[in-house]
Amino acid sequence: MGKVILTGDRPTGRLHIGHYVGSLRRRVELQNSGKYEKIFIMIADAQALTDNADNPEKVRQNIIEVALDYLSAGLDPEKACIFIQSQVSELTELTFFYNNLVTVQRLQRNPTVKAEIQMRGFNDSDEADNKAGTPVGFFCYPISQAADITAFKATTVPVGEDQAPMIEQTREIVHKFNTVYGETLVMPEMLLPDNAACLRLPGTDGKAKMSKSLGNCIYLSDSAEEVWVKVKGMYTDPLHLQVSDPGHVEGNTVFTYLDAFCKPEHFAKFRECFVGKKVSFEFNSLDEVKAQYQAGGLGDMMIKSFLNAVLNDTLEPIRARRHELEKNIPYVYEVLRKGSEIARAEAADTLAAVKRSMRINYFDSGVLDALIAEQSAKYSK
Ligand code: TRP
Repeated sequence: MGKVILTGDRPTGRLHIGHYVGSLRRRVELQNSGKYEKIFIMIADAQALTDNADNPEKVRQNIIEVALDYLSAGLDPEKACIFIQSQVSELTELTFFYNNLVTVQRLQRNPTVKAEIQMRGFNDSDEADNKAGTPVGFFCYPISQAADITAFKATTVPVGEDQAPMIEQTREIVHKFNTVYGETLVMPEMLLPDNAACLRLPGTDGKAKMSKSLGNCIYLSDSAEEVWVKVKGMYTDPLHLQVSDPGHVEGNTVFTYLDAFCKPEHFAKFRECFVGKKVSFEFNSLDEVKAQYQAGGLGDMMIKSFLNAVLNDTLEPIRARRHELEKNIPYVYEVLRKGSEIARAEAADTLAAVKRSMRINYFDSGVLDALIAEQSAKYSK
């Protein structure tokens, strides 16, 4: 059997460059590698609702934003099936059966669930705030994520590092199901980004994660002007006060972004920088730039100007494609409608296999006759 990819994103905002280097860029490469028999990319609106129950409109609005980001980043509907999670109702049925294979205690130990509960303040027991408490659907979302992955018989799940506990939990569910009911589900593997800087791109403020609520994101759909404003304001090395001072590259966000985005050809392409005026920027590799920064004599504005050029080199073609697609919204919804139809057929096939293994397929052809014979025999004694 060929290899199959399933991955996706919650539609709670536009996608940012952390999503891009953490998974989107890789998906496009995998899509074009020809090594995968099927590729499913899911807009996880149902999962987004697990902590946005009172804000369904936000989720609804962002489905198209994420779809536009996908297509403009290079996902090709001819090669990858892009679909909306809530339109595949088979996923909820699988989740219902998997719920019985997981304990509350195991979910409580899931590090991502723990961290997210903390981050969202669900555990704060503020009596006056009737929003306090963890929604059951949110608490159980790792189980629904196992349904997403197994429904499409995914062998490979390309995700960011924060999703590792989800894949681990899925693997446990697969193991348990196959042990109890017989070999049915495909055991998935996680695929992490190969570049350390891409595992978790920090926000422009240097904080651990790019996140909309922290306001430290550069979006794929940001204009060149917006990107430059954000790059100029980026966190660097607080000890690098004078251009002549030696600087640190570790923990310096500008260098982390360069590690994630810079390609060898950028050094030939960008031999000038803009720091109020044009100045030459003659380096042949990122190592050379780093060495000069560490030795002293390379200003923050220089490296920010170079980073800005590097970022825009990646973002400009994405932006251009987005502008074209924004003029053709009916096409984007047609991609999603068709994709959801294909996804549904695939999930239905897995659900049928699951029900066969659990022997809850009472009315399948052939099964009913055998069932009648079995039960009749019991009562004719
Ligand atoms: N939890 C993922 C995120 O927050 C989105 C997601 C839902 C997903 N189902 C998935 C990712 C299945 C990979 C596989 O980004």
